[in-house]
Amino acid sequence: MFDINTLYKTLIASIQKTETMEALEAIRLAELGKRGRISALMKELGKMSPDERKTRGPALNTLKTDITAAIARKKESLEEAQLNTRLKTEFADLTLPPRPEPKGVLHPVMQVFEEVAAIFGDMGFRIAEGPDIEDDWYNFTALNFPEGHPARETHDTFFFQALDKETPPKLLRTHTSPVQIRAMMAEKPPIRILAPGRVYRNVWDATHTPMFHQVEGLVIDKNVHMGHLKGCLIDFIKAFFEVETVEVRMRPHFFPFTEPSAEMDVKYSNKGDRIEIGSGDQWMEILGSGMVHPNVLRNCGIDPDIYQGFAFGVGIDRLAMLKYGMPDLRPYFEADAEWSEHYGFSPWLTPSVSGGLSG
Ligand code: PHE
Repeated sequence: MFDINTLYKTLIASIQKTETMEALEAIRLAELGKRGRISALMKELGKMSPDERKTRGPALNTLKTDITAAIARKKESLEEAQLNTRLKTEFADLTLPPRPEPKGVLHPVMQVFEEVAAIFGDMGFRIAEGPDIEDDWYNFTALNFPEGHPARETHDTFFFQALDKETPPKLLRTHTSPVQIRAMMAEKPPIRILAPGRVYRNVWDATHTPMFHQVEGLVIDKNVHMGHLKGCLIDFIKAFFEVETVEVRMRPHFFPFTEPSAEMDVKYSNKGDRIEIGSGDQWMEILGSGMVHPNVLRNCGIDPDIYQGFAFGVGIDRLAMLKYGMPDLRPYFEADAEWSEHYGFSPWLTPSVSGGLSG
């Protein structure tokens, strides 16, 4: 009769030797499967005498349990080995570059704000702010626009609905000049501020948008005169356009809040589809300026017999167009990714006078 002990030893040995899952499965089927050897031995029990069955039965059962357990253990260790070789040979290459992310760029208008702030910051101006929604008083009255004066009409103002008959309605500021008033009301001279911001007028064509950007400059001190204004603006224009020399002219103009008032023009020439600033055969107006009107100083509680000052206002959108050769103003506000990619600036390159303005 089949010696169970010998069978056990042979089977354990061949299970030990097995190197693949397939071979192990083959052993399982050959021994424990329906038609397997151990299953066949179990079936033989039925033909035995009760005494034989008494000894053979438990022995066969133990064999079956032990072999089943041995196969399970082997299966586990084969699986572990398999996993170990996979861990050794397969790996995720984390050094691969990530999928390109959409890149954020600085809008040219923001870049030019930064550049202008860097230049005037270098001259000792500090940044000042005011609200976009203004009172009539700050936007007009305090700036010496008399009630019913035609200059108020030229601003194409967006008014809010009036709250009552007595209070003039709020409005979207039409220029950054109200920040002059806020600065003069808030601090004592000497004052040297730069106020960048959004301004609003009801106009819409190739060179005008209902919202645009200005930078206001204001200097209040003793003995300030037109020469300071002119020198300061020439320094600014040279620094901004990154040119050694620039031809400018100051043309008399009218603003209610400055006296005398002047617009500043720069010489330029057309080079193909680009404009070159500094010299040439044509004049281009780039800013409004003047000596702060004594009435404006008085409105803010500053004695015009002791203090004088100058102010200027520059359109930032125009400056950006001129410096970076953008022919049309409208794409500024269209959020076109391709346009931004082309004309945008790295947000990490902070303009500075010493380190370079435009990267
Ligand atoms: N506020 C004027 C404008 O928007 C510009 C300006 C500012 C003129 C300061 C003189 C002084 O047109």
